Amino acid sequence: MPITATHDGWLIETAHTAYVLGINPAGALTHAYWGPRLPDPGDYPAPPNPGPWSAFNNPGQLTPEEYPVYADLKFIEPCLKLSFADGVRDLRLSFGATTLDPDPVPTLQITLHDPTYALVVTLHYRAHERYDLIERSATISNQGTVPVHLERVWSALWHLPTHGRYRLRHMVGRHMDEGNLRHEPLSEGVKSIESRRLSSSHHHSPWFALDRDPTAGLGPAADEDQGEVWFGALAWSGSWQIAAEVTDFGSTRIGIGLNDWDFAWRLEPGSNFTTPSSYAGYSDGGFGLMSRRWHRFVRDIILPQPSQPQPIFYNSWEATLFDVDEPSQIRLAEIAAPLGVELFVLDDGWFIGRHDDTTALGDWQPDPQKFPNGLNPLIERVNQLGMAFGLWIEPEMVSPKSALYRAHPDWVIHFPGRPRTESRNQLILNLGRPDVQDYLIAQFDQLLANHNIRFIKWDMNRNVSEPGWPDAPGAPQELWVRYIEGLYRVWGTLRSRHPQVIWQNCSGGGGRVDLGLMRLADQFQLSDNIDPTRFLLMHESFSQLWPPGITHAWVADVPEPYLSLRFRFHVSMGGVVGIGGHLARWTAAERAEATALIAQYKQIRPLIHGGELYRLRSPHAHAYSARMYVAPDQSEAVLFAFRTHLLPRTPLPPLLLRGLDPTARYQIEGQPASRSGRAWMQTGLQLDLANFESCMLRIQREA
Ligand code: GLA
Repeated sequence: MPITATHDGWLIETAHTAYVLGINPAGALTHAYWGPRLPDPGDYPAPPNPGPWSAFNNPGQLTPEEYPVYADLKFIEPCLKLSFADGVRDLRLSFGATTLDPDPVPTLQITLHDPTYALVVTLHYRAHERYDLIERSATISNQGTVPVHLERVWSALWHLPTHGRYRLRHMVGRHMDEGNLRHEPLSEGVKSIESRRLSSSHHHSPWFALDRDPTAGLGPAADEDQGEVWFGALAWSGSWQIAAEVTDFGSTRIGIGLNDWDFAWRLEPGSNFTTPSSYAGYSDGGFGLMSRRWHRFVRDIILPQPSQPQPIFYNSWEATLFDVDEPSQIRLAEIAAPLGVELFVLDDGWFIGRHDDTTALGDWQPDPQKFPNGLNPLIERVNQLGMAFGLWIEPEMVSPKSALYRAHPDWVIHFPGRPRTESRNQLILNLGRPDVQDYLIAQFDQLLANHNIRFIKWDMNRNVSEPGWPDAPGAPQELWVRYIEGLYRVWGTLRSRHPQVIWQNCSGGGGRVDLGLMRLADQFQLSDNIDPTRFLLMHESFSQLWPPGITHAWVADVPEPYLSLRFRFHVSMGGVVGIGGHLARWTAAERAEATALIAQYKQIRPLIHGGELYRLRSPHAHAYSARMYVAPDQSEAVLFAFRTHLLPRTPLPPLLLRGLDPTARYQIEGQPASRSGRAWMQTGLQLDLANFESCMLRIQREA
């Protein structure tokens, strides 16, 4: 059992890591340790019990509490802040009881009570032993007779070893510009990253990674291969918050959870509020090992169909935009099929009256002019050609110019009597409302029941404004949570009723990629930016957490044809291949080359989907970058290398391979002789690439 009770607390051990918490002599539930697993249970420190500093800082301020609440002489970021009905906003939690459940995932539950009010907080800890990850969440129970008003409820506070100095790695971006990595030292105060958009967003991502700040002289920084990294994420698709706080007393802690900005929740008597889960882990093998731990966990535990490699698809959006109809799509499908494409996706523009982005969202029937006999003739032709059929939808949205809006103007998120700000000419349906959820389930259930649709691209193309909910059942600000719960219900119900469908998560590209939605989606679209050199950077950034086998980057017609088809394919082949070019304009030679590249991709796809990723040289730092994917049994690997722009005679450094068995011998495509894994990793592979050239090389272990 990876979770055990000790004389003063609990020890949570995973395969390589440990996490310790306990009740200190003052009675506080306190964090004691998070790091590598130690040989003996007695090796871990006891829960700390700091004394006061002066009249200005009593122990409440200095104690590293597991789940601090707003009370006492404490000025740190609390996890929980609330108001009781009588106006009291002070909460004292004392230890109540614990339960330990071994199955299915070992779980520790700790209950804490307020001595005066009938309020109970339960902290949940789950040990994902094989994956070296710990999951935390909290439940707040109102056992009294009057409502309690919640103002902040975070999922967890993750404490780093005290008296260290750390750097925070996180990901920032914008629409068309997702996936920029930042790495910055933390010092006293709070560094906050968040979304206020009702969506996890393009702008920040709900995950963090910390290594040691080498300038502090308190330990070395991490790199891809070595060093300590503490990392975590939130499984939530709405507004969220990460607060990295360094206290004046040398404690670094990361609070993570629902964003308290504009948040409120009326907790009725007898009801509970449970936070989303936060997952976190520790790596002593640098950022590379961190990512491989995430990848395995996401593949096995988060994704709904872990073992399913993603099909190669063609999506006609970049080619035909809204100008779709049956003949144009059949023509493209007839070109796509012989290339080896497995799935044909009809994007936006197919439904009634949708000729541009000003109309029709909400009216999900095929347009009779474009598809006089509905979608089935196209689907049948696509199927005859040996491909599955996929379709774009944007269920959460409505155009003011639509029959749905005319019938239900009250269904959108709005404040009565106030402007309804449109973005991309659309408004957001209030998915917090059960009637809206039921309507959407019925609409798309029917669409999927009446057509042989095997793939849905679920899009979401704006963020919220005027977040009002007239007649909300509780506090109107509950919208921030109830909308996301409604989204999960609609998507989850459709998914369970139509298990044959593969679901792509898209929000103007990578605008809603998080551990909450990826429980329901099989893959995600990286970006609306189709520039392959940008995709190189985004692949690197998103792979910090996401396994490459679910990450789709387009093979598109770049506006200026400065990158070869081969380069564009190689970029996309590092994840899910989806072609977005105008196939009718591709030359016969280009089609032949695409056919050969797709055939190669089919051979390496199991490695992309199920292999271990090693990032050899980052495109963020180098114009000559490389990554490899190694089979879990180390019997084979595939290497991608890309050169963008360097001075013409720049010598390329050898690529020091990773992840091979040092004692086995490996043959690399195009190399005269095999060498030991150790040699490839120690002295490397010398390649010769010109500017804007790439290569893909297969690596085989000798029998
Ligand atoms: C979003 C998506 C695109 C495309 C369009 C259609 O921008 O990210 O891929 O589907 O919508 O309107």
